[in-house]
Amino acid sequence: MKLFSEILFGGDYNPDQWLDRPDILRRDVELMREANINTVTLGVFSWAALEPSEGTFTFSWLEDVIGNLYDNGIRTILATPSGARPRWLAAKYPEVLRVNADRTRNLFGERHNHCCTSPAYREKVHAIDVRLAEAFADNPAVILWHISNELGGECHCDLCQDAFRKWLKERYETIDEINHAWWTAFWSHQYTSFEQIESPSPSGDMGVHGLNLAWKRFNTDQTADFLKHEIAALREGGAEQPTTTNFMADYTGLDYSVLAREIDYVSWDSYPFWHCADDYQTAVEAEMQHDFMRCLKNKPFLMMESSPSSVNWHEVSRLKRPGIVMNACLQAVAHGADSAQFFQIRQGRGNSEKFHGAVIDHYGGEDTRVFREVSMTGAVLKGLSEVTRAEVKAPAAVVISMESRWAMEDAQGPRNAGLGYMAHVLKVYRALRECGINVDVLDASHSFESYRILAVPMLYMFRKDTATRLQAYTEAGGTLVMTCWSGVVNEDDLCWLGGTPHDLTDVLGLRFEEIDALPDGAHNHFFPADGAPSGLDRAYFCGRLCELVALSTAKPLMVYGDDFYSGYPAVTVNSYGKGNAWYVAADAEQKLFSDLMRHISRRLGIQPILEGAQKDVLLSLRSAKDAEYIFAQNFSSDQRRIVLPESAEVLHGQTNGVMPPYSSVVLRTEKA
Ligand code: GLA
Ligand code: ZN
Repeated sequence: MKLFSEILFGGDYNPDQWLDRPDILRRDVELMREANINTVTLGVFSWAALEPSEGTFTFSWLEDVIGNLYDNGIRTILATPSGARPRWLAAKYPEVLRVNADRTRNLFGERHNHCCTSPAYREKVHAIDVRLAEAFADNPAVILWHISNELGGECHCDLCQDAFRKWLKERYETIDEINHAWWTAFWSHQYTSFEQIESPSPSGDMGVHGLNLAWKRFNTDQTADFLKHEIAALREGGAEQPTTTNFMADYTGLDYSVLAREIDYVSWDSYPFWHCADDYQTAVEAEMQHDFMRCLKNKPFLMMESSPSSVNWHEVSRLKRPGIVMNACLQAVAHGADSAQFFQIRQGRGNSEKFHGAVIDHYGGEDTRVFREVSMTGAVLKGLSEVTRAEVKAPAAVVISMESRWAMEDAQGPRNAGLGYMAHVLKVYRALRECGINVDVLDASHSFESYRILAVPMLYMFRKDTATRLQAYTEAGGTLVMTCWSGVVNEDDLCWLGGTPHDLTDVLGLRFEEIDALPDGAHNHFFPADGAPSGLDRAYFCGRLCELVALSTAKPLMVYGDDFYSGYPAVTVNSYGKGNAWYVAADAEQKLFSDLMRHISRRLGIQPILEGAQKDVLLSLRSAKDAEYIFAQNFSSDQRRIVLPESAEVLHGQTNGVMPPYSSVVLRTEKA
C-alpha cells in the first residue's frame, strides 16, 4: 500500500531550459537541499533536448542532472516527454497534430497537441520511451515514471474516426443496436452502416446524445490505451519502477475512473483559487478533489503539482497568504497523499510561465518569503514521515460519476443555464465533512458496503446494476441519502421508463413526477413538516432544481413553502430492510445539507475525529495499526481553537489549542 517511506517533497524541475548555465544548475541543487527537497520531476517537456533530430538521442545531460541530484539526496520522478513534441516530428509526420471538431488541423504549437491514435506518434513515443527505460531502468535515483502530462483533449482526424467506428463495432456489434441506443428515429437520423458515423461536430451532429456520450467514452478509452502503450514501452525497455500520470482538478474531458486502472499511483495537480472567495470553502473544494483522487485506487496518491505562490493562468493571481503553502501541503497529506510537490522549482525566463510561482524565483536566492515557507514546509513534512504508514478510512462516502455528468450536462432539459452539479455535490460533501469525519468520494462503480452513510447526489445515470447495488446496500442496513434528478437515464442516455429514480422507488418510498427549474437567484423554501426532527425545524432556501415527488411509503420531514407545490414533500425518509433511504428533492442551501447530515450522523452515533474543535476547523484522520494521526486545519484568516486530547502527542503546531490564521495541528494518538 505504502508509496515511499517518507513524504516526497519537491516538484517539476526544468534544467533543459538552463543547459547553457551550469552555474545555475549547480546553485539549484544547493538551494533544493536548503529547501528540504527530496524529489524532483524531470523531463516533462524535454523531448527536443532528448531527441534533437529523429533517431538521435542525447540523454547525457539528463543522466548528469539525475546523478548530481541523487548525490545530494534528491530522487527523480522521470517523465516520458510525450506531452509536447519537437518541431521535426510534426514537420515530418503532420498526422501527429490534432484535428478539431470542425475538422481543421492544428499547426505545430503549444503542448498536448497530438493525436493519440496516430501510428506515427505512437511509434515515435514508443521509440523514445523504450530508450529512456533502457537508460534509467536500473538507476536507483529514478523512483517513479510519470507518463506524459495532464492527458486531455480530443482529436477528430480520419484515423480517430476509424478508431471510433471500430470501438463502436466492438461495443454495439450491429448498426441496429446503435440506432436503438442512440434513438436515431428522432429527426430521421438512422444509420445504415458504421461508415456513416462521424464524431460530434458543430457542422454535423451535436444533438445525438448517445453519440456524444459514446465519443467521450471512446476518447477516454483511446487516451487510456495511449497510456497503456507508453507503459508497455517502458516495460519493454526493462523499467520496473511504478507509474503515474497527473490528473487535473474537476477535469471533465476524461473519465479518470477508467484511466486510473492503467497506472500504479494516481497523482494530480492542485491549484485552488485561494483568497478569491471564502478560503474555507476553497479548502473544502480542494479536499474533495484529494478524496476523489485517493479513492480512484484506494491507496496513497501524489500531489504532483501545486504553486508555492501565485499561478499564471487564474484571472486574478493572488499570492498565497503566509501559512497557505504549509497548510495546503499538510492538507494533501491529511487526505492520503504521500507527497507535496510544486510546479515549479525554478522560474523560467521566458514565455507563458515566466511569472508562475516557483520555489526559486528570478532573483535566485534563498532569502525570499516563498523560499522560506517552502523550506519550513519541507522540514515539517520530514518530521511526519511516519504518517506514510497510515491509511485514510472513511465512514461516509459521496458518489460522483463523470459519465452521468456528461449525460446530464448534455441533456437539454430543465436548466440549460447550468445544473450546478458540482456545486450541489460539494454541498453534500461539505455537510459530511462538517460532521468532523473523513469522507470518501467515489465513482459510482465503487463498492458501497463499507460505508455507514452513502450520499448519492444527482446521479442522473443509472447503469443496469446501479439500482440493485443501492438497494442491496440499503437493505443490508446502510443509510442512503439521495438527491433530486437521479436515476433518470440508462447508460446509453435513454430515459428509463416506468418511474424514476429507476428501480429505486420502493427503496426511497417515492416516485418522481415533475421537475421545476428556477432561474438564477430565484428561490423556493423548505419548511418542517409535522414531526420534523429537531435540528431540522427551521426554514431553508432552495433553488435551481425543485422536484415534485409522490410518496408511497416515505415519510415527509420537510415540505416546500411556496408556489403551487407548497406543501409537497421536499425531504423524506423511508425505512427499507435494515436501513434507511433519505431523499432531498431540491438543490437546497448548504445549511440544509449540513443540518441534515449532522442529524443523520448523530442518529447513527458516528463520532467526530476530534471533540470540541471550533466550527470550520477541518479534521482528518490517517490510521496505522498502532497509532492515529489527527490533522486539524484552520483555513481562515482568523484564529480558531481546538481541544487537545490529553493522550495526544503534538507532532506539529501549537500545543495550547490555539490555531493562528492559516495553520494546522497534527496529533498522534496511540491505539489502545
Ligand atoms: C499544469 C501543468 C504544468 C504547468 C502548470 C502551471 O498543471 O502540468 O506543466 O503548466 O499547470 O500551473
Ligand atoms: Zn486523431
